[in-house]
Amino acid sequence: MSLLITGGTGYIGSHTVVELQALTDEQDIVIVDNLSNSSTKVLDRLIQITGKKVTFVKADICDYEAMNAIFEQHKIDAVIHFAGYKAVGESSEKPLSYYYNNVSGTVMLLKVMAEHKVKKLVFSSSATVYGDNESPLNESMATSATNPYGQTKLMIEHILFDLAKSDSNWSIACLRYFNPIGAHSSGLIGENPNGVPNNLLPYVSQVAVGRLAQLQVFGDDYDTADGTGVRDYIHVVDLAKGHVKALQNLGKISGCKAINLGTGNGTSVLEIVNTFKEISGQNIPYKIVPRRAGDLATVFADASLAYELLNWQATRDLHTMIADTWRWQSQNPQGF
Ligand code: NAD
Ligand code: UD1
Repeated sequence: MSLLITGGTGYIGSHTVVELQALTDEQDIVIVDNLSNSSTKVLDRLIQITGKKVTFVKADICDYEAMNAIFEQHKIDAVIHFAGYKAVGESSEKPLSYYYNNVSGTVMLLKVMAEHKVKKLVFSSSATVYGDNESPLNESMATSATNPYGQTKLMIEHILFDLAKSDSNWSIACLRYFNPIGAHSSGLIGENPNGVPNNLLPYVSQVAVGRLAQLQVFGDDYDTADGTGVRDYIHVVDLAKGHVKALQNLGKISGCKAINLGTGNGTSVLEIVNTFKEISGQNIPYKIVPRRAGDLATVFADASLAYELLNWQATRDLHTMIADTWRWQSQNPQGF
């Protein structure tokens, strides 16, 4: 039996492969990725960490023939689907490319899965589907989206719910991630954004390592303890372990279930900057600038459903998240 990991050379996918390889009842792992936002160097790093090989197929999930060939050649038992574009700003500039890649790509994947009677899926959704609900955010709240990226996640969730309703053989976990940060403790794999980072942690770590001059803090007039935005940062290894638990518990899930993966704790931008400064020993110059459009003051999870359903909870604290981010960034100042 094999597991198919779409987007497996990406940030969260690669960390999940490490956790899957550590299982005693491990399955063969097949990664499919078109390398639009990752590098084959990840594959060498994965071998360095785990001592085990994976099968890698360079292909696009939108390519029916290529996807079908993977299911013909491997006895796939379940799929973890990470492949997709994820930059919020870019999604407003290139909406068609986001809808095509994320939504059409997922429909293509589901079609091939259905044809091969593979009906177990773990999907990468996002806390962005909660729109402007008040935190703590729980899975029974109404969903909405304010940008094309968020819309793609919401549309895919709707497709997955409809699919599971139409055929009770599907078991689907829609994992709604909060803010993944950190890296594997070896420092061999981590987040490697193209161009100037949009998200806070990659930005701060590139300032710390000297690639960027200064952080812009988007607003210090929010209704939070220090006025800066508060988010639920979760270590990528905890997140990866959440995927393993979801996969192991798919049998318990009838139909499609949305499940938050967060810590339940909030941390402000300035707390991140100060902790990063302390751990790295580097100066992190910053300037307060106006709020970023679309940002909320405070976003954090109600993480209780994941504990109830999957017996999973995050265990790594902020110190570990930042120490691991810094190890990765300082050992690989230019990324892979
Ligand atoms: P990433 O960009 O590092 O990984 C995604 C991978 O998918 C990349 O390796 C990319 O090359 C590949 N890919 C993209 N389109 C493809 C296609 N059509 N065919 C084959 N491969 C393709 O991103 P990540 O941070 O690891 O995110 C993984 C998933 O989690 C994404 O779906 C993202 O939307 C979702 N997510 C991420 C975050 C986050 O903060 N990182 C938060 C919530 C949800
Ligand atoms: C962003 C996306 C969200 C996505 C999530 C994880 C937006 C509006 N939202 O969320 O859809 O699911 O990433 O990929 O882009 N900040 C700064 N300076 C920076 C960068 C960020 O002050 O240079 C602040 C932000 O205002 C926010 C916090 O840091 O308060 C976290 O920002 P970010 O890492 O971009 O994540 P989210 O805004 O939660």
